[in-house]
Amino acid sequence: MTALVGKKIGFLGAGNMASALIGGLTRSRLVEPASILASDVDPERRLQATRRFGVRTTSDNREVVKFADILVLAVKPGVAPKVLEEVGGAVRADQVVISICAGISAAFVESHLATKPPVLRVMPNTPALVGAGVSAVACGTHATAEHCALAKTIFAAVGEVVEVAEKHMDAVTALSGSGPAYFFYLMEALDAAGLAEGLPPGVTEKLVKQTALGAAKLSLDSNEDPRKLRQNVTARGAPRRPPCASSKITTSVTFSSRPCARPPNAPESSENNGAAEGAEDNRKGRELWGKKRHKNETRGPSFFGFLLPGFWSHFSFLCVLCDLCG
Ligand SMILES: NC(=O)c1ccc[n+]([C@@H]2O[C@H](COP(=O)([O-])OP(=O)(O)OC[C@H]3O[C@@H](n4cnc5c(N)ncnc54)[C@H](OP(=O)(O)O)[C@@H]3O)[C@@H](O)[C@H]2O)c1
Repeated sequence: MTALVGKKIGFLGAGNMASALIGGLTRSRLVEPASILASDVDPERRLQATRRFGVRTTSDNREVVKFADILVLAVKPGVAPKVLEEVGGAVRADQVVISICAGISAAFVESHLATKPPVLRVMPNTPALVGAGVSAVACGTHATAEHCALAKTIFAAVGEVVEVAEKHMDAVTALSGSGPAYFFYLMEALDAAGLAEGLPPGVTEKLVKQTALGAAKLSLDSNEDPRKLRQNVTARGAPRRPPCASSKITTSVTFSSRPCARPPNAPESSENNGAAEGAEDNRKGRELWGKKRHKNETRGPSFFGFLLPGFWSHFSFLCVLCDLCG
């Protein structure tokens, strides 16, 4: 906490992630609103930042550079080169520069800063908006452990923080930066499944959200890894089929138990062998979802059936799916 005492923080860009950070820093009283200045091209964003957090704002990025001890580059990656060209010559050697731009390397940021200040690359995620984010911090060429500690303190205001080598930052971006989109998409799929089974909308919403929260909390609080926790639900002997006659949701979404988590025409994997019952469930499930998709224009379950088995090979798709690189 002491690392930030007396420090002034400047945000270049006052959008969603900057707002999450400003909110976290001011709520936790790590930084006084008077010690924060944020720039944005959008007058509405500037107004919102002042109204919500009591911080000063400006349309002039260079004013932020003059003001701050710590600069946070929080514009979209496509805009970052332009902003770096605009302010790069004004950045002092004693300033700390933190970039949260997806896909922009610390070296790229450094190449715009003649005075060689310490640069850190950080990847937060949107749950930071509710203080439940996770951020990965990586040091650039001139950043020391002290600078890294400073960055960790800032991002700890909006959730958990890990440190990684910069070579891992693109993987982090795909995993936790884009990761919330996967979970929300799964929630969409579950919601669609519940509605297709005739559950009332308010009920499915509550069931889905609380199930997502409960699964995350169970995973955090438990010593078991996610695979074991998943097997506790899907294993033979556990109630794969609900006591009622309808096993449609179980079949199609249950959850991506192995048989369902396969592209429709993919060969059986060794992990599926002998699962005759599961294969039959799978066939019915795919039929069901094919129909539902046609009828209700729900895409989720089918998408997940395709996506989950190849999770690690779909990083590039993840980055298309989300808006990080906007
Ligand atoms: N959202 C996420 O899930 C997430 C997660 C991790 C990292 N990030 C990274 O965080 C950064 C910001 O993302 P975000 O979601 O907060 O984006 P955002 O909400 O669009 O915020 C960016 C803000 O910068 C403004 N801006 C555009 N050009 C500018 C300029 N020349 N000078 C000053 N401000 C300018 C934008 O205004 P206009 O809208 O009018 O252009 C917008 O208000 C991105 O680089 C992204 O990769 C995002």
